[in-house]
Order: sequence, then structure tokens, then C-alpha cells
Amino acid sequence: MEEVSGTMMGAEASVSDAEYLGRRAVEKVRPTKGYRLPELDAHLRSARTRNEARILHEAPQAGIRTPCVYDLDMDRCSIVLEKVEGTVVKNHLRDHPDRASEVCVKIGNAVARLHSAGICHGDLTTSNMILTSDGEICLIDMSMGKTRAELEDIGIDLRLLERAFSSAHVDLPDAFEDLMTEYYANVGNPKAVAKKLEDIRNRGRYT
Ligand SMILES: Nc1ncnc2c1ncn2[C@@H]1O[C@H](COP(=O)(O)OP(=O)(O)OP(=O)(O)O)[C@@H](O)[C@H]1O
Ligand SMILES: [Mg+2]
Repeated sequence: MEEVSGTMMGAEASVSDAEYLGRRAVEKVRPTKGYRLPELDAHLRSARTRNEARILHEAPQAGIRTPCVYDLDMDRCSIVLEKVEGTVVKNHLRDHPDRASEVCVKIGNAVARLHSAGICHGDLTTSNMILTSDGEICLIDMSMGKTRAELEDIGIDLRLLERAFSSAHVDLPDAFEDLMTEYYANVGNPKAVAKKLEDIRNRGRYT
């Protein structure tokens, strides 16, 4: 992710500050990607935009903090979201390793609630979470998420998170353990999830 004059350029989308009816907002636009076949590009941009809006709308009904969706423009593949005040969790963990355990317990709790509601995130990394100024975990960037997630989707979410910790936060293994302890204490089917995660790890090892 790099910042180009106030606009955050991610892999797929550009996110910039905006205003919506006097409220602080961000606009996330999925521009055309010239390297993709035009039909495929149009399909991916609109499917991901629509899916993101849908999941951001459904997750709060399960008690998960996500940005409020203010507006959707399917012609431009753009979505206007509440601007969540806070710090991206990846940066917070890097800057305040002494508070990592406290934050990780909150992450474990939020992810357990998400999964217990049958929703998977699809790109569960510490870049896609904001620690709000109120100390809550807010999940963002849910365009690859699914409602009615299968155990496999949930296992993949956890494997992604585990990999994020082993690459971006190698110095925080204890905090990650606290995250998983909180997760398993709160998720609906901890034994089945643990087994699935182990299967996915083994698959990665031998293929
Ligand atoms: N609702 C929001 N409130 C505040 N900041 C946000 C919000 N949505 C996105 N951001 C900021 O913009 C960045 C990119 O947003 P997002 O992750 O949704 O897009 P992306 O294109 O997938 O980027 P990435 O390369 O991180 O995957 C976030 O890491 C965050 O810093
Ligand atoms: Mg992101």
C-alpha cells in the first residue's frame, strides 16, 4: 500500500477521504485494470463492490463492527463508507508491541463472533482491521468475504491471519497465542475449526 497524494492505493482499490452529508467518509473506487480481459475486469470490479457492500451491511447485524455504508455507485464501482477514526492494527502492533496482547484478545473475540455468525472475511490480515479511537476492532476490506461460510472458508481465514502474524509480526508469538485462545473460547465449534486449521496447515506443507 502506498500513499499517492492523499489516496491510498491498494492492490485493487483506491481509497480517498470524502464527505457524505457533512460526515467524514472515505470513497473506495475499483478502477479498471488494463491487464485483465475487459469482460472479466468489469465482472470482478462490480462483483467485489457489490459483495463488499452486502457483507458490510450484514456483519453489524451479528454484532461485528464494520464501517457504515453511506453510498454505492455501481457504474463507477465505488462505495462511500463511514471514515473509521483509529489506527490500522498492523501499524498499532508495530508501534505499541507492549499493548499487543490486549489488542490481540479483541481481535480473537471479533473474529470468533464473525465466524460464529457464519461469515468469513476472505482477506483476514492486520492491514484490514482498524483499532478505533474507542478501542474497538473494526473489520474493513470485506470484498472477498462470504455469508454462509463453510468450515473451509473459516479455516482459510485463520490460516491467513496466522501467516500475517508469522510475517508482519514475528516478534509477537505470545500475543497471537492470546488471540487464538480468545477465539477458541468464543467460536461456536472450536474443535472442528482447530482440526480444519491443522488440515490446511498440513496441506500447505506437503503440496
Ligand atoms: N472505512 C474506513 N475508514 C478509515 N480508513 C479506511 C476505511 N476503509 C479503508 N481505509 C484505509 O484505506 C486502506 C485500504 O483500504 P482497503 O483495505 O479497504 O482497500 P484495499 O485496496 O484492499 O487495500 P489493501 O492493499 O490494504 O488490501 C486501509 O488499510 C485503511 O488505511
Ligand atoms: Mg486491505
